[in-house]
Amino acid sequence: MSDLSVPQINTQEWYHPSENVRRDAYITDYEAFYERAMKDPLAFWAEQAETLDWYQKWDKVLDDSNPPFYKWYVGGKTNIALNALDRHVNTWRRNKLAMIWEGEAGERRTLSYYRLWQEVNKFGNVLRSMGVRKGDRVTIYMGRVPELVIAMLACAKVGAVHSVVYGGFSEQALADRIEDAHSRVLVTQDGAWLRGQIVELKQIADEAVRRSACVEHVVVYKRTGHDVFMEPDRDYWWHDLIALPIASTKCETEVMDAEDPLFILYTSGTTGKPKGILHTHGGYQVYTSTTLRYVFDLKDEDRWWCAADPGWITGHSYIVYAPHILGATSFMYEGAPTHPYPNRWWKMVEYYGITVMYTAPTAIRGLMRFGSAWPNRHDLSSLRLLGSVGEPINPEAWKWYYETVGGKRCPIMDTWWQTETGGFMITPMPTVPLKPGSATRPFPGIEVDVVDEHGNSCKAGQDGLLVVKRPWPGMLRTVFGDPDRFKKQYWSQFPGWYLTGDSARKDEDGYIWVIGRIDDVIKVSGYRLGTAEVESGLVSHAAVAEAAAIGLPDEVKGNVIHAFCILRQGVEASPKLEEELKNHIRHEVGPIAVPAKIEFVKSLPKTRSGKIMRRVLKARALGQPEGDISTLEE
Ligand code: WTA
Repeated sequence: MSDLSVPQINTQEWYHPSENVRRDAYITDYEAFYERAMKDPLAFWAEQAETLDWYQKWDKVLDDSNPPFYKWYVGGKTNIALNALDRHVNTWRRNKLAMIWEGEAGERRTLSYYRLWQEVNKFGNVLRSMGVRKGDRVTIYMGRVPELVIAMLACAKVGAVHSVVYGGFSEQALADRIEDAHSRVLVTQDGAWLRGQIVELKQIADEAVRRSACVEHVVVYKRTGHDVFMEPDRDYWWHDLIALPIASTKCETEVMDAEDPLFILYTSGTTGKPKGILHTHGGYQVYTSTTLRYVFDLKDEDRWWCAADPGWITGHSYIVYAPHILGATSFMYEGAPTHPYPNRWWKMVEYYGITVMYTAPTAIRGLMRFGSAWPNRHDLSSLRLLGSVGEPINPEAWKWYYETVGGKRCPIMDTWWQTETGGFMITPMPTVPLKPGSATRPFPGIEVDVVDEHGNSCKAGQDGLLVVKRPWPGMLRTVFGDPDRFKKQYWSQFPGWYLTGDSARKDEDGYIWVIGRIDDVIKVSGYRLGTAEVESGLVSHAAVAEAAAIGLPDEVKGNVIHAFCILRQGVEASPKLEEELKNHIRHEVGPIAVPAKIEFVKSLPKTRSGKIMRRVLKARALGQPEGDISTLEE
């Protein structure tokens, strides 16, 4: 098992929550809460579900008669929009801010729950008028604007299944995802702002639609206002549509079965074809809202900022859905963290009085690089809790976040989870003593273990595979259109247990330290990418015969991609070609997938059966021993 990127850790360095944090927490007796949930998880999950609205109550909390196709809240009727919107407009919360938004150039917008509900209703009616019905897929390809949230909630409301594609993906990646989901409707925008530049979303969308035959309607939200091509009878402006009489502010919420699909979110796996992770209305609404409530102690007075992109699972769960189910005020920022200066984030924390902030280690390291003077210029005393997600947080970044950003007042909730898990799985709660670099213990009701390849629990300090030993409400239900892949990938190595794809170790206190992926998935700046996606992007260029990609440790990004290419006969290696290939990847897959370096090689280490041994490439690049190479052919 690879151990190349483990930061230096100290398993005996403790941080204890202050008296204030302990006093204000929802759960003051963590141990008792934990024990109770573990003793009878189904009763615990039933109790959590009772806090939400249902058109019809479930008959059974869990149906485990056909594993791994588990069903939660069987027989229950609901809609996540009923809980995130409808129920709030009948209470005092109709006047509360649901969202605060700041554009990169400094514009500000706020939406009360009432307003958000109206906007969602309008767009829901637009979708219905385009023939979108329960179960139909809608692809959304946008920047970080409120309309992205509105579009997602509108899909949920009318029972459509959204598939959001992150704005950092390009033509082919978008086309593949549209095609796999068979979306007839695409929602996009003219362009997105990033570092003062326009990202040409519409232009990319046009090319993707050209490559995928199923799209009939494209809705275009006007953000940048620059000239874009509009195809007659296919492309419509968002603002024109919501001005039509059909776009009334009343839109009936579709009554959904608890197990009806809510969204597909594509994520990287071990093959070039991305996996459509499918989540459903009932279990997902319970799981995301329960975890957010207890882990971040979210209260009505809070101003919550999850700095992720709505196009990834973190944004789906903790920008769009859970905060609104809890009736919280959620802040969203459009642009780059350092635009125009490295104090941008801290300035916004001060201005909006953010109380809880949740981001990724890569962002913290990126800002830490600019020094403490930037945050120190701002009053960050509104913050009371901090969060981290996406990759292991190295103790140095942890301490900077804790001391400089949090003023040593704010415990850091290091939450381990995945697109597949729907919400936090291994995480502290505010009163849990912390160790920098460890996500501590499983969330109450979740049973996690570190095991060897035979399934035996590892001893303290021993590396092993991270598994989840019983189902939970927020779990993925399948891989869209590929139930066999779902079974094989996650449930075949240890039947009955969910295989996470991560390695980890437990320490003598039972705290879990996640080490990293054991498969061909790389985390670059917290973004999840498959080596296979980069490789198939490279070989789609005429000059490349074969390619291999690996992740190498990087101080800020966590990992960067290094690619190795064997060129076709007659093609000369040159720095110009390296640039050209990087550009090709930027177009085909997206800027996030561009390798930091491309090396031209004559051969690649392969097994006798022809599989590339990325592990050997990685060891060589790092100047480390190659390990077991008995299967190496070369
Ligand atoms: C990694 C992101 C260590 C892990 C929510 C996992 C983490 C993958 C942490 C999922 C953490 C996420 N500590 N590693 N706190 N959080 N990971 O699907 O390798 O984009 O398997 O979901 O991120 O990435 P995904």
